[in-house]
Amino acid sequence: MLSERTEDGRQTIRMEVEDGSIETLINRESIENRVSQLASELLQDYGNEPVLLVGILNGAATFLSDLHRQLPLNFIVDYMGVASYGSGTESSGSPSINRDLKIDPKGKRVVIVEDIADTGYTLETLINILKARGARGVEVCALLSKDEQRKVEGLDVKYIGFHIPNKFVVGYGLDYNERYRNLPYIGVLTLKE
Ligand code: IMP
Ligand code: MG
Repeated sequence: MLSERTEDGRQTIRMEVEDGSIETLINRESIENRVSQLASELLQDYGNEPVLLVGILNGAATFLSDLHRQLPLNFIVDYMGVASYGSGTESSGSPSINRDLKIDPKGKRVVIVEDIADTGYTLETLINILKARGARGVEVCALLSKDEQRKVEGLDVKYIGFHIPNKFVVGYGLDYNERYRNLPYIGVLTLKE
């Protein structure tokens, strides 16, 4: 492992891995702090109202389990499985559902919990599906957002943990070919030549 300083003076760690190298972008402590703040925002906006948090598998599972434990009992959780990436680092643009909700969203206030808003196609599709099923007010909480990559105009992501540059990131639930989800921090993956 190599410890380095970036141009703006931040301390980063670079780790060599099978696919190339990973450099820390958001450390564990910053993630913890931001997740607590997001929980406070949700609590402030929803209070005692019943809310269904819809976690998008597999990427959002880590984030959602940390977020959920900081919220009161009126927040319940279910999951949807969506495949939008295949095995590469580019969005395919046509997400398909491979695991559906067990809880009926009809009449419920729903917050979609996602790891990252990239092009926005996945979120747009999910918002439309949940609205069509009668969810009452669908909002989105994404841990990360690559604003530069957005293709869906007017996509409203109400709660965003961190705005990040257009780089491929892994860790804290995010993967490359199913690896690196269990890193406790978020890092930029640079693939081997
Ligand atoms: P979108 O439909 O292009 O917004 O893609 C969203 C999905 O792509 C996310 O749920 C992630 O699973 C995946 N994704 C986008 N960017 C990254 C990244 O940098 N690392 C890992 N997965 C990513
Ligand atoms: Mg995902």
